[in-house]
Amino acid sequence: MSKILLGISGGIAAYKSPEILRAFIIAGHEVEVILTEAAEQLVSPLALATLAGKKIWRQSDFLSTEYGWKIPHISLSKWADVLVIAPCTAETMSGIARGRAESLLTATALALPEHIPVVVCPAMNSAMLSNAATVENMKILSQRGVFITEPDSGMLACGTEGKGRLPPPEAILEETERAIYEKSNMTNAMRGKKVLITAGATQEYIDPVRFISNKSSGKMGAALAKTAWRRGAQVKFILGAHSIPPVYGVETIDVISANDMLKAVLENLEWADIIVASAAVSDYRAEAPSVLKIKREEKSVLSISFIENPDIAFEIGKLKHDGQILVGFALETNDMIKNAISKMERKNMDVIIVNGLAALGSDANDVAIIRRSGSESSFAGSKEDIANGLWDELP
Ligand code: C5P
Repeated sequence: MSKILLGISGGIAAYKSPEILRAFIIAGHEVEVILTEAAEQLVSPLALATLAGKKIWRQSDFLSTEYGWKIPHISLSKWADVLVIAPCTAETMSGIARGRAESLLTATALALPEHIPVVVCPAMNSAMLSNAATVENMKILSQRGVFITEPDSGMLACGTEGKGRLPPPEAILEETERAIYEKSNMTNAMRGKKVLITAGATQEYIDPVRFISNKSSGKMGAALAKTAWRRGAQVKFILGAHSIPPVYGVETIDVISANDMLKAVLENLEWADIIVASAAVSDYRAEAPSVLKIKREEKSVLSISFIENPDIAFEIGKLKHDGQILVGFALETNDMIKNAISKMERKNMDVIIVNGLAALGSDANDVAIIRRSGSESSFAGSKEDIANGLWDELP
């Protein structure tokens, strides 16, 4: 839970700001809202105050002490864990880049302590966005450590197609949480690291409509992808069948069979610093999948012959070079630690995470993390807690 200062400036996308406010509140954050004078024309202060469940800050409050906050721009800047400006107009961006302080919002930005992250979400006409003045302002801000979200492309309010739309509320929430994490963990070892994750279940077709697969949900892989991205890593997420919502910020590569997954892994292996094999890969596939749908016939037994699938983790273990870290999973029902260690050695993994049957499809997990060096630690909690436990342990 963080204290988010949401600054709303006067672009047409301001009408979307109540949804951003709601996304922050639903995620458990405490929010104070500052509205510029121009934004008041585009979004109702009453709507925002109703959703916030409290007073919101307007330009008319700039030099007021009426609400018990001494000098609002100073009090607000001292209160915040993060400042998010969404939408940020060209005018407001220029104001904060140049250190201007004529509005409550820009004055608050100017008064913000240096360690507090600022997330700027530009939204404007594409010509204004690509104008050299705006480009220069964005450069100034990003050199100062301000996080700037990538505007979406599409139909703009002025009727033209182009870049300049405000990203959706979920994206702004994710970028905000990432900025808070990055700024508060200055020694974070994952910044800039390249992480390749396999997740979900593979499906092996026996005919054009039927396949064999397993119950894997992809949740553990999604938690790993999400937490690695939040820690500043670049993430490629190779995903089989799953029951998870899209993971923001990562490059997702959808695959179906074990062979597709292996191909995607081999194409990206050289790129990766850390590889996590969390996919539940079918060990076998039909030797000769039927081109036509298999018909029910007069016989009571259907025989299909299955052949071995590639062991993706094993292939990675063979090919990985010095400096690349391979992390694998083991789902064991007996002799958990002993079986996991032998799996780690056989597949040349650096770390193995061992869990029981309860892990399948569940939101929580209870695991032991075993390293090649012999050290072992246990973690219980949500899959995100476990993912964070793993990242904390990696060199
Ligand atoms: O299935 P098994 O217990 O051997 O899986 C252990 C590890 O190997 C897991 O990390 C899993 O993702 C990986 N694996 C794989 N390709 C397979 C089978 C397993 O990458 N064909």
